[in-house]
Amino acid sequence: MSAMKQTLVLDGRKVELQQGDTILDAASRANTSIPTLCHDPRLKPVGACRTCLIEVEGSRRLLPACATPATEGMVIHTKNERVDRHRRTLLGLYLTDHNQDRHYGLGGAPNQLVAMAHEVGAPTDWGQLPSKRKASTEDDNPYILFDPEQCIACARCTRYCDEVESVSAITLAGRGSETTISTNDGLSLLDTTCEMCGGCIDTCPTGAMTERKVAEMDAPPERDLKKVRSTCNFCGVGCQLDMHVDEAANEGRGQIIKITSPPVGTTTNDGNLCVKGRFAYDFVDHNERLTTPLIRDKAGVLQPATWEEALAATSLGLAGVSERHGKNSLAFVSSSRCTMEENYLVQKLARQVYGTNNVHQCAAT
Ligand code: SF4
Ligand code: SF4
Ligand code: FES
Repeated sequence: MSAMKQTLVLDGRKVELQQGDTILDAASRANTSIPTLCHDPRLKPVGACRTCLIEVEGSRRLLPACATPATEGMVIHTKNERVDRHRRTLLGLYLTDHNQDRHYGLGGAPNQLVAMAHEVGAPTDWGQLPSKRKASTEDDNPYILFDPEQCIACARCTRYCDEVESVSAITLAGRGSETTISTNDGLSLLDTTCEMCGGCIDTCPTGAMTERKVAEMDAPPERDLKKVRSTCNFCGVGCQLDMHVDEAANEGRGQIIKITSPPVGTTTNDGNLCVKGRFAYDFVDHNERLTTPLIRDKAGVLQPATWEEALAATSLGLAGVSERHGKNSLAFVSSSRCTMEENYLVQKLARQVYGTNNVHQCAAT
């Protein structure tokens, strides 16, 4: 006999539970949205930001949906006057030492805090205090910029660095309203164990951790850029990435402004990228980049050619070697930088077209 399914009641609807569910997990399966800021499904819940507080009947206090286990028979309200009032008050307080204009409708990544505050109608007129958080003045790394005025001390960046990267290059430092993100002794990230993966940027909900290059250039806001999905070509893992392209730049040829990972849980890289995938895209516009095939002329000098001409010359050359020296005088070596499909096609070309099993791929060694 199968065990009885455990259920709870969420906003008047019965929801089946799975083992290990938090209230947030159960709500998300039931397509009920609960606002979160410090939550990242890759990280252990800490209940730091308090945006996800909901009402559970029988509990005196509002409880954090991200960190409270869902149990049989719970009756939960994710939206009522008490919960809504809490969200408005909390987000209004966050805004009092947060730069409300920057990143909202201007350049850079979307700021989830400011967007959420607008959505719930949080007060924006409670005065503005200068933020007491400070950033290290020593940090001259070329990729990552920390803007303390945008930080809400949710610790997603430090937890990501610790739990996903296992690097622990950054930590929460200071106390109270001075709590900030720092390295040991305020060193530049370049002098720490940091691998420049940029995962701290990816997980930050406010844009406090951001791409230095984008912050320092006059780029259009992320929402005005065209998002193009692609496969990273730096190694054979096949991480998916989203290129954010300013289509009007470079006289209409377009320019990659930044690269992000597709959302957590949607592709094999699960929201993660390495330093090369995230930051090493300048080669795309490099002035020494080959943009057309080249064929050597009789004098041995490389001359620009069309793809048709290049493919015809390659095919003739390979067939010539095979005729003169036999099929096994040819060998094909493909690259782990190619996709699996491209590698498959290379071995098919070797075996079926040129009749040789001399085919290898660098990742096989
Ligand atoms: S870039 Fe990666 S390794 Fe460096 S601090 Fe950020 S999360 Fe940690
Ligand atoms: S930098 Fe971003 S992720 Fe890190 S604590 Fe501040 S707001 Fe959170
Ligand atoms: S998302 Fe639950 S406390 Fe921050």
